Amino acid sequence: MSFQILGTGSALPACKKTNEDLSQLVDTSDEWIVTRTGIRERPILTTEMVTDIAVEAARNALENSGLTPADLDYIVCPTLGGDYLTPSLACVVQKELGASCPAVDVNGACSGFLYALDVADGIFARKKARHVLVLAAERLSRILDWSDRSTCVLFGDASAAVVLGEGDALRFLEVGAKGNLCLASPLIINNCPYTAADTRKPGLLMKNREVYTFAVGAICDGLKKAEEATGIPMEETDYFFLHQANLRIIETARKKLGLPEEKFPVNIHKYGNTSSASIPLLLDEWNRSGRLKKGQKLVFCAFGAGLTTGTAAIEWTK
Ligand code: ACO
Repeated sequence: MSFQILGTGSALPACKKTNEDLSQLVDTSDEWIVTRTGIRERPILTTEMVTDIAVEAARNALENSGLTPADLDYIVCPTLGGDYLTPSLACVVQKELGASCPAVDVNGACSGFLYALDVADGIFARKKARHVLVLAAERLSRILDWSDRSTCVLFGDASAAVVLGEGDALRFLEVGAKGNLCLASPLIINNCPYTAADTRKPGLLMKNREVYTFAVGAICDGLKKAEEATGIPMEETDYFFLHQANLRIIETARKKLGLPEEKFPVNIHKYGNTSSASIPLLLDEWNRSGRLKKGQKLVFCAFGAGLTTGTAAIEWTK
C-alpha cells in the first residue's frame, strides 16, 4: 500500500516580469528568450516571502483534498531553500498552518518533487502516515546572479503542493543522482575566521549545453523505464508532466520518442523554470481546469542540479 493524490494546490507571487522587463537589466531580447526556451514571463517574489506563497499553496491543496491541517501526518517540502537555513521551510509552514506533524525539507533541486514523493512513499510503506503534504516552494530569484543573462532569464518563483493519502495509485517511482558540478550554486555566507577565503562567485552557475543534453537523455530514459516497469506503453499514457525547464528540451525529447504534442502539458511560457514546483504547478493547473479524469495514467519526470533525476507513474484517482 502506498499513496494516491487527494488534492493539489498552488500559489504565485503577485509580480510578473516579462522578457521585455529583463531586457532592461541584461543584454537580451524577447525573441532570444522565446525561441531558445519558450519562456515569456515569470513570477518573481518582491514583497512576499517564499513562506507566504508556500502557506497559500498548502491551504489550497488541503481545501482541494477536503482535509484540514489537523489531518496531516507529515509535511515534506522539496525546495532549494526556504526563507531560513533553519528552521526548515516545512517547519515554518507547519506552524503557520497550525499542524502538529513531523516536517522536513528535501533538496533534490529541480527533481525535488520526485525525491519528496519517494520520501513520502517510504513513510506510507512504513505505515507512519495516512496523509502527507508534499509542498514545493522555490525562490530562485534570490539565488540568481541577475547580471548573468544566460541564467537569470530562465527561472521563476512559485509554490505548488499535492496532498497524498493511502492508496495504490503509484505504479512506478525511481530517483537518481550523478554527482556533477555542471549546475551549482555556492552557498557563500562564511565569515569564520579560521576558514580560508571562499573565492567562488555567488549565483547559479550552469553549463547550459551539458545540462541540455543531460536533460533530454534523462527524459527519454525515465519515460522508457516507466513504460518497462508498468507495462503501460507510452502511447497509452494520458499525460507526461515533465519538469518545465525549457520548451526545446521537452520538444526534443518528445520527438525522439515519437509521441504527440497533446500528451505533454506545458506552462513554461507563463512561469519559467520554477524548479521543484514546476510539476505540481502544472498538475494543479490541469486538475483545476478539469482536464484530469479518474483512471487516467500520468507520468512525472524531472531532472536538475546534482545532477538529479526522477520519474514516477501514477493513476489519477480523484
Ligand atoms: N540573451 C541573449 N543571448 C544570450 C542569452 C540571453 N539571455 N543567454 C546566452 N546568450 C548567448 C550566449 O552568450 C551565446 O553567445 P555566443 O555564441 O556569442 O557565445 C549564445 O547566446 C548561445 O548560448 P548557449 O548557452 O549556447 O545557448 P543555448 O542554445 O544552449 O540555449 C539554454 C541556452 C536555453 C540555457 C539551454 O542551454 C538550456 O535550456 N539548458 C538547460 C537548462 C536547464 O534545463 N536547467 C536545468 C534545471 S536548473 C536547476 O536544477 C536549478
